[in-house]
Amino acid sequence: MSEYLVQRTTTWERFNHWVLAVSFIILCLTGLGFLFHSLNWLNTIFGGNHLAKEIHRWTGVVFTFSVLFTLGSYLGESLRFSKEDTQWLLNLGGYLSKTAVEPPQGRLNAGQKVYYLVVVVLCGAVIIISGFIIWLAPSTAGWLRLGHLLHNLAFVVFVTTVPLHIYLSTAANPGTFRGMTRGTVTKTWTKRHHSKWAKELGID
Ligand code: HEM
Repeated sequence: MSEYLVQRTTTWERFNHWVLAVSFIILCLTGLGFLFHSLNWLNTIFGGNHLAKEIHRWTGVVFTFSVLFTLGSYLGESLRFSKEDTQWLLNLGGYLSKTAVEPPQGRLNAGQKVYYLVVVVLCGAVIIISGFIIWLAPSTAGWLRLGHLLHNLAFVVFVTTVPLHIYLSTAANPGTFRGMTRGTVTKTWTKRHHSKWAKELGID
């Protein structure tokens, strides 16, 4: 570890994150093509409706493994909530005020924990299980209707929250993105955004 840099992610965490992100984008593009008539042209990019469906299903399998692999990286930590995490949630990390002070946060802040648990784990489980229902369950109308309803509801949560995740981890907080590309962040960034974690690492 260099004097000025802090290791934020492992090579494995970065690799899995980008597998998750790329598979998510392919699933969105193909999924939107099935969902809306006006966006059907998207499926021609993937070689037509039939091939787009195969690509969607098998990318779904990749997405499933990638979500499962994130459990080892983030689940334990996301389930541990401290009183500072509650304070962070009560003032929304200070994002909505110029004067609010951000309560000291560990390696993940409370917003990241909630995003991980609610969107990636919970909605991830719903979209994955319903996807397999649509793909493999006996094609009775009841199962299909339930599968499509759950798949579409979870999809709405993903497409509305992932852009927020991208904005917060890039433009809104400069210095964050390099943690998912090079794996390191600066000491100043660590103290500014995750002061509790900085203390644990012995950074003053
Ligand atoms: C392609 C666009 C994306 C970009 C630019 C992006 C960027 C990032 C960055 C920079 C981090 C590190 C944040 C930090 O160190 O504090 C991160 C973490 C993470 N990302 Fe993404 N991401 C993208 C897509 C996704 C998607 C589609 C998912 C899930 C479906 C996802 C799930 C996660 C998770 C679980 C973490 C770690 C925990 C957390 O921050 O909640 N990302 N992302």
